[in-house]
Amino acid sequence: MWLITAGPTREHLDDVRFFSNASSGRMGFALASAAAQRGRDVTVVSGPVDLPDPDGIEVLRVVSGQEMLDACRLLLEERPVEVVIAAAAVCDHRPRQRADGKPAKGEGVRTLELVENPDVIASLAALGVARTHVGFALESLKDRAAALQRARSKLTRKGLDAIVLNGIEAMESSRSHAMWITASGEPVDLGDLDKPALAAALVERVSALQS
Ligand code: CTP
Repeated sequence: MWLITAGPTREHLDDVRFFSNASSGRMGFALASAAAQRGRDVTVVSGPVDLPDPDGIEVLRVVSGQEMLDACRLLLEERPVEVVIAAAAVCDHRPRQRADGKPAKGEGVRTLELVENPDVIASLAALGVARTHVGFALESLKDRAAALQRARSKLTRKGLDAIVLNGIEAMESSRSHAMWITASGEPVDLGDLDKPALAAALVERVSALQS
């Protein structure tokens, strides 16, 4: 089975207020569809997105980064997961405390204290249950050498087999300029593609890592 994380996470301050980011979830969902088209059994663990479940693909919906990690861990315990692809834009931090209900503006705390969220893909890679772990790195491609170096160090730090370096322009766009980086090989420029085409190319690359 292939496990794919997708979308943003929401980190709640109280029952109605949260912070999040602009991830649409389109990359993760496109990857799931492309993998399913190649006959893979796919489960998506997604933060809140405005996308329907793709045909024939199980989508588990979560809200926070911690919930995303818990849902993924459970799947690794219960099912034979071979590949984990982390396309989610997990919030790096969450508020230290969550208030109940909706405090009025005069009642709530005014200074936001943040704590670090768990790193979902690094935690899953450290478990060593799945065979292949692939992450994404969103960096400005203006200085390509620096971006490649940052992506490579992310790959090593998180214990990944490969990382997809994306230009920051990909965030709210239907297209993405991406590079494929593995621990050993030279980086491969995949070009500027729409997300379904990039997803198909990535599924090929991930499948090749398996053989
Ligand atoms: N990721 C994750 N859990 C997190 C943060 C990131 O699983 N808490 C995953 C993302 O899904 C992506 C990869 O890690 O595959 C890179 O995320 P990114 O936010 O670019 O890296 P960071 O570790 O946050 O590094 P920095 O913000 O310092 O660039």
